[in-house]
Amino acid sequence: MTGSFDVIGPLEGASFGGQVSLRGGGGGAALVEAAEREPATLPRLLDDSHGLLLITGMEAMAGQPELLLRLSRIFGPEVENYRETGMPPNMVHPTVPEIFVVSNTPPVGRAPPALPDPPLTADGRLPVQYPHRHGWHTDQSFRRPPPDISLFLAVLPVPQGQGQTLFADGIAAYDALPQDLKHRIEGLDGLHVGSGAGRRREAVRAGTPPRPLAAWERPQPQPLVRIHPVTGRRALYLCEHGQMDWLEGPILGLEPGADGEGARLLDALMSHLTQQHFVYVHEWTQGDLVIWDNRCLVHAATWFDAAKEARVMWRTTVSGNPGAAYAGEAKSWLLTA
Ligand SMILES: [Fe+2]
Repeated sequence: MTGSFDVIGPLEGASFGGQVSLRGGGGGAALVEAAEREPATLPRLLDDSHGLLLITGMEAMAGQPELLLRLSRIFGPEVENYRETGMPPNMVHPTVPEIFVVSNTPPVGRAPPALPDPPLTADGRLPVQYPHRHGWHTDQSFRRPPPDISLFLAVLPVPQGQGQTLFADGIAAYDALPQDLKHRIEGLDGLHVGSGAGRRREAVRAGTPPRPLAAWERPQPQPLVRIHPVTGRRALYLCEHGQMDWLEGPILGLEPGADGEGARLLDALMSHLTQQHFVYVHEWTQGDLVIWDNRCLVHAATWFDAAKEARVMWRTTVSGNPGAAYAGEAKSWLLTA
């Protein structure tokens, strides 16, 4: 049953994801009202689509940002208020503080990722596979419990062919692992940390002395294999350079460091997870809303020409259902002790 909604999947060029629309049409307000009338439908369609939904035609949300907040609330009990969690004020929407603004324009001024080297694959395609493609991550994995769902609205996207968002299906990638590798990683934890903690791979390789970390920014273990709290499905859960701790990690219990046994396993898993056939490339159109489940897929941003193009995207982050492994835990990023 899809209620008042239609879904078409998989997404173009991919083996997962679904495009959802309100049956009979209508813009953002009509879609949000329908979602609120039957709040189980969109979360279930998200689960059925391996954690990735596209809704087009949501331009109205740019003028009515509270619509994005209302839709976010469908996906879980807590929508992060960025004004309360230490986000620099210039990156928070002025009237709806649950919206985190990703933009290269003032007052945000965030630069896009670098071009891959070389910019294209040998056969002329957009590079997606790690390590040719860098930046693969799952949102805020440096927190325990980590968040569940992210919603990302194209308020002002850049022209197609740049500024894409890439998604890799952690469920299909886990299922495709050889049995001995599944066995090896079961029960292992990755060690995640924020990119500003000074524990990036390059910093550790260069011998940069680690700085003391406050309680709220300490590295957090997360299972390499997440069990989805709703579907029970297993998915690979890891990041690469930006959000792993390469000093004490990246994988607890294995030789640490930038080039140790843990690093070799992480490189192998990330390269496996981001193979072309597990990846969806989203080319943005104004009014596109993409909803993803951080518990079962990873994503990456791509370069755009920030000297020529202005880009404004809005994100919300929903949490509150991380699964049994996190039951009853205090929020690591709010610890003061
Ligand atoms: Fe992200």
